[in-house]
Amino acid sequence: MIHVLIAAELKELLEQPPLPGFEIEWIPNTAPTPRGPYVGAVPLLSRPFGERELEGLPKLRVIANCAVGFDNIDLAAAARHQVVVTNTPDVLTESTADLTWALLLAVARRLKEGSALVAEGRWSGWHPQQLLGLELEGATLGIVGAGRIGQAVGLRAVGFGMRVLYTDSRRRDAFELETGAIRESLETLLAESDVVTVHLPSNAQTRGMVNGSWFAMMRPGALLVNTARGDLIDEPALLEALTAGRLGGAGLDVFPREPIVHEALIAHPRVVTLPHIGSATTVTRRAMAELAVQNVLEVLRGREPLTPVPLPTTGGEAAPR
Ligand code: DGY
Repeated sequence: MIHVLIAAELKELLEQPPLPGFEIEWIPNTAPTPRGPYVGAVPLLSRPFGERELEGLPKLRVIANCAVGFDNIDLAAAARHQVVVTNTPDVLTESTADLTWALLLAVARRLKEGSALVAEGRWSGWHPQQLLGLELEGATLGIVGAGRIGQAVGLRAVGFGMRVLYTDSRRRDAFELETGAIRESLETLLAESDVVTVHLPSNAQTRGMVNGSWFAMMRPGALLVNTARGDLIDEPALLEALTAGRLGGAGLDVFPREPIVHEALIAHPRVVTLPHIGSATTVTRRAMAELAVQNVLEVLRGREPLTPVPLPTTGGEAAPR
């Protein structure tokens, strides 16, 4: 029998027993990556695959990451070992855009403070100046990275009457037509946005790019939302900007050392912290698991995978998602 490793956490999301003809080894995410003659792997986004893991898996032909992001995988090592890498784009775009908006609304309308006021019995009744937030109609949303998710976030902004700016390596004509969004330099976007939302992959170019000089360029009191990857943000700089009141608040679904979240962020009344649930709807998580398994099947049957990640010929980074 030919063996495939699949994250045990995905078992109940898959409708049919996956991969007929292959022996599945369900591996809990907390267990170390086994060594052996496995031909395929479906890991979660927190399982690293680098040179060390790949050396222990000499027969491996495909890593089908159950995530759109693939920063847990050393692409250069995968290329050296001739292992195909796939991800799960598209199926999670809408759910992640929804969650981005949940955070945006929560921070703009100060839901954490309001909820605490009621829960702690401190609410003494309606007051005309209580918890005044940001009016979204007419405000500017800055989308850093207008890939699939960034664009889906921008489409939702139309319903809220927001002006949309975006940065991207290329002009997104259809998106501009649909939303009236304007492509700007990062400097202009930061200077003009009331809310900035980041939709970039984590790689050597983007890690830590949301830093002190970024916050200095933002409008005083503007809001930041991140549902992409935690390490895009320089956390000490974020804390400093929040403490100094330069940043009006943040909605964060992702963190640099998950599942550890800095206690100052948890405690901050204007920061909403979520446990990386951008894609967490039943429909999306099932679709992600099914797509990952289908990718393994395609490769093992000698066909092109449905959603391959381009592997570098040199270096280890890949294109924005
Ligand atoms: C991803 O897919 O990369 C998300 O972070 C989890 O859905």
